[in-house]
This record gives sequence, C-alpha cells and structure tokens, in this order.
Amino acid sequence: MKSTDDAVAAIKAIPEYQKKFQEVFGHDVNFADIENAIAAYERTQLAFDSPFDKFVNGDQNAISDSAKRGWSIFNGKGRCMSCHGWNPTQPLFTDQKFHNIGVSAHKSDFVPLARKALDLLNTTGGDSIAIDKLAIGTDMSGLGRFLVTKQPHDIGSFRTMTLRNLLVTQPYFHDGSQATLWDTIDHYNKGGVQNPYLDGGITPLGLTEAEEDDLVAFLASLTSPEYADAAKQEYDLQFKRSRTDRPQRDEGAANGDKGRGPGLAGPFGDIGPQQTLENPALVGGD
Ligand code: HEC
Repeated sequence: MKSTDDAVAAIKAIPEYQKKFQEVFGHDVNFADIENAIAAYERTQLAFDSPFDKFVNGDQNAISDSAKRGWSIFNGKGRCMSCHGWNPTQPLFTDQKFHNIGVSAHKSDFVPLARKALDLLNTTGGDSIAIDKLAIGTDMSGLGRFLVTKQPHDIGSFRTMTLRNLLVTQPYFHDGSQATLWDTIDHYNKGGVQNPYLDGGITPLGLTEAEEDDLVAFLASLTSPEYADAAKQEYDLQFKRSRTDRPQRDEGAANGDKGRGPGLAGPFGDIGPQQTLENPALVGGD
C-alpha cells in the first residue's frame, strides 16, 4: 500500500470487512481502527506451554532424548544461544538485536550497494518514507538495518527471530530463502555466507547429521499445543525432504577442511563444493 488512504480504500472495498467494522467499531473503516484490529489480533498470537516449557519447568519426560541432546548442542557446539539465548525472564529465544548472519550475502555485493543506498538517502533526505521505498521496492532490502542507522556494522543485519512455532511459520529467514529447518542449520553449519560484515559469532560448526537432527528435534519442542498436529505434519514433510534434498549442506566448509577459510567467498561468490582453491582452474570464470 502506498499510503494509509490506499489501505483504508482497499479494506473498505471488501464487503465482509465493511460489515465487521460496523459491528465491532460502530462506524465505517478508518485507519486507526485497522491498527486497533491488527493489534488485537497480534495479542492473540501467544506462544507458550510447549513441551520445552514443560521440560524446563521440571517435567523430564516432556521432550525426547533427541530434543534434550539438541538443547545441549543449542547451548554448546551449535553456539545458537549467543543470539537466541533463553532464560526464564527472556523466553522468546531472541536477544532482540540485529546481526549479519550472511542471509542476503549471496545476492548482494554489499559495499557498492551500501554506497548507492547512502547516495540515494542523502539526495532524498533519508526520511522514513524514503527508507521504506528502498527497503521494500529495491534490491537494497538485503542491506537490512543499515538503511535505518547508516552504520557500516549494520550492513546486512536483521533482527534475531524468535524460534517458537517454527514448524508452522516456514519458510525461514527474513526473505524466506530456506525451506526447511535442516536448511537453516546447514546455513549456520558452514559458517553462513562470507561477507565483510558477517557477525563474529558465525563460524563453521562441524555439526554431524545426527547432531542436526537433534537440533531440529529441540526446535520442534518449541511448538505451542494448539499447533501440535500441524507441526507434526510439517516436521514429517521436512524430515523426508532433508534425507535427499540439502541445497545448503556443505560438509567441507562445516568441518573447515577444504583448504579455505571458513565459508570463504571468492571474488565470484561462494566457492561451491566442486571448486577449491587448490584447483584454481575451476574458480570463477563466469
Ligand atoms: C550471530 C547471531 C546468531 C546466531 C549465533 C544464530 N542465529 Fe539464528 N538467527 C539470527 C538472526 C539475525 C536471524 C534472522 C536472519 C535473517 O532473517 O536474515 C536468525 C534466524 C534464525 C532462524 C529462522 C527463523 C524464522 O522464523 O525464519 C532459525 C531457525 C534460526 N535462526 C536458528 C538458529 C540455530 C539453530 C542456531 C545455532 C545453530 C542459530 N540460529 C544461531 C541470529 C543468530
């Protein structure tokens, strides 16, 4: 929607909404009440009472052994807790901070893109509407938080997401670029996608297949009871897919044994499994 007036017009054009607005608010559609309605809806989107919550409250049988191993990996070898840390007073699995974990790095050449964004923001005055236009309408969306703060350390960074109810909110990451939880973990396992602004916490993890399965079992235990059935169905689909289809899996990078730095990208993008620095004939070209 280009403006709030456009939003009101679009909602008004739907007879069901017109009727409901009369019923609920006693008057015609206006923007303030669209906001109120959305806020009221969002207040219903609570996530709690998952098997994991029962487990941390003392019910040892609430989650599987695999999920328990996954919880240890989450807090240890997987390093997930450094950004998705949990404690009883911060139950959302997010530090609410912004990090570049390399999600948009494969699509964006950050340095020239950031320069271009700065030029544009300087000429347009850089107000919030100008920022929205860049973020929504152009390939600059990949610059993330930088568009708002203009601080180089925010290039390509996005807010750490909650990890609750993931099996009913696929696909993953801000751009929906990963289809399964195994794909997201493969992304972390290989050390993300290298770029100059990559968060220092992102590094090859060397997780085995069994450890990845355990991590997914842990993430699945963060499902609220009302989504249990839907989540089970999605888990089965993703599990099946993960046995054959693993576009992000990069064993060599995950174990740092490819004669290259962790997740190192060459000037022509990430070096795929068939290309190595020892075999320069294969590097670049296109
Ligand atoms: C350096 C901080 C950091 C670390 C470490 C980290 N994450 Fe994340 N995580 C993020 C950020 C930031 C996002 C959002 C990224 C984006 O959308 O571009 C995210 C998104 C995700 C998502 C997608 C959620 C969704 O709804 O789309 C999953 C799943 C996830 N992380 C799991 C993990 C797991 C599992 C680990 C450990 C192996 C981990 N993360 C380690 C910062 C981190």
